[in-house]
Amino acid sequence: SYTEPALKSVFAEDFKIGAAVNPLTIQSQEELLAYHFNSITAENEMKFASLHPVEIVYSFGDADRLVAFARKHNMAMRGHTLLWHNQTSDWLFEDRNGGPASKELLLDRLKSHIHTVVGRYKEDIYAWDVVNEAIADEGDQLLRPSKWIEIAGTDFIAKAFEYAHEADPKALLFYNDYNESDPNKRDKIYTLVKSLLEQGVPIHGVGLQAHWNLYDPTLDDIRAAIEKYAALGLQLQLTELDVSMFRFEDKRTDLTAPGADLLQWQAERYEALFRLLKEYRNVISSVTFWGAADDYTWLDDFPVRGRKNWPFLFDEQHRPKPAFDRIANLGKYG
Ligand code: G3I
Repeated sequence: SYTEPALKSVFAEDFKIGAAVNPLTIQSQEELLAYHFNSITAENEMKFASLHPVEIVYSFGDADRLVAFARKHNMAMRGHTLLWHNQTSDWLFEDRNGGPASKELLLDRLKSHIHTVVGRYKEDIYAWDVVNEAIADEGDQLLRPSKWIEIAGTDFIAKAFEYAHEADPKALLFYNDYNESDPNKRDKIYTLVKSLLEQGVPIHGVGLQAHWNLYDPTLDDIRAAIEKYAALGLQLQLTELDVSMFRFEDKRTDLTAPGADLLQWQAERYEALFRLLKEYRNVISSVTFWGAADDYTWLDDFPVRGRKNWPFLFDEQHRPKPAFDRIANLGKYG
């Protein structure tokens, strides 16, 4: 039983409030999720390798359970993700004799995967991260080296969007990436999306993963990224928000619980972030956290395996943290 205001009501006029979930957290966090959130994303269960481990076998069990959870609690659902360089089955890139697949075979398989998956969930999933993390992190090169580009050249991105649009013309289709506020990567994401739009590719939004921390990125860089993507005339969504207690390069493992000072700092950081997001409520349609409460986060295994982190608005017992209080007030009076 919760007494605090529900996040989804606090921001009802601004954006949807989402959480990434998995088969364990829809049980352990069910009450919290139902009370505060009105959107979910599958953390891993809709990725290629999870759904389609072998060419002739789809395994929809876990994904279906998450869809049923969204229905039960009347939540929106985002789909994540149709094309990625990670968590993709090896068979996809091989022909039936174990040699490299041809471009034609690879694109045929991509098409049939996307048609099957997007088609199956067309009543339930309103938005898809069609292509995830295709931009190179460093340097001048636009696209990240991958099996996709090796075999299919640069066409695979436009094709993925076209296939998804064929399968569900109503779905909102997103390009999703991280380090989205880094000036160099931001410009490359912009360049890619702009060129897709110029080719008439059906793309409707840019997903900013928003894996941030107490220190980085700066509010100015976040603002610049939002402005730049919004200038494309697309809607934006924060798709994987968390605020780590550690700088990316900080591998320290001696912190066993966040002290009052860190919790306060995180509260100020969250407040500043949400103030900024509210300024852009006309272009930002959803803010999804990559989890819901500090008892479970992928950051417990990244970048240091087994190091605890506390990136969310709710603690390990699902009680509101100082960051929650700041944001709840902001929603009402901000
Ligand atoms: O399920 C297996 C289990 O059978 C095995 O014993 C165990 C041993 O390591 O691994 C389990 O798989 C793990 C999987 O999560 C499910 O828990 C993988 O090792 C682990 O690498 C995988 O991590 C996921 C990661 O994507 C993969 O790159 C995280 O849970 C997930 O939160 C994370 O999400 C990504 C987004 O999709 C894209 N943006 C970045 C974000 C964070 O990395």
